[in-house]
Amino acid sequence: MKHEKSVILLNKAAADELAAVHQYMYFHFQCDDQGYDLLAGLFKTTAIEEMLHIERLAERILFLKGDVDLVAAHGVEHLADVRKMLERAAEMETQSAADYNTWANECGANADSASKKLFEDLVADEERHFDQYDTELDNMAKFGDRYLALQSIERSKTRSAGPVK
Ligand SMILES: [Fe+2]
Ligand SMILES: [Fe+2]
Repeated sequence: MKHEKSVILLNKAAADELAAVHQYMYFHFQCDDQGYDLLAGLFKTTAIEEMLHIERLAERILFLKGDVDLVAAHGVEHLADVRKMLERAAEMETQSAADYNTWANECGANADSASKKLFEDLVADEERHFDQYDTELDNMAKFGDRYLALQSIERSKTRSAGPVK
């Protein structure tokens, strides 16, 4: 295989992405259970985007004639506090963006510009995810307890609007 090092890095990324899918779906269930619909939705949407990242990584791995390990890099952290969830999620995105930047450079140095480009595309997405979580943390700092109250009101509004047609 020509790009063995790339396959290793792409598999590491897929393992991190799978861990993120599990973590964000766990946060989604927690927020949904606690009645915070907006955050529950944000975690679910982001989990789906991370799943699509796995798909892109897997396609590249198979193109390079490697195999997709698809084992999560780590287990789920059981956090129920909303601020802690957002802090953890922001940390995960920061780490992913840093890793993918490094790995993009490594792939570039090994003359694998398609893998480099893929990692660069993922960096842009992870930075956007970071920004979304960071904005929620800012709102939480700004509005305090009212932030969570507003989230609960959102659920009541949706429910009082009647059945979805
Ligand atoms: Fe991702
Ligand atoms: Fe992300």
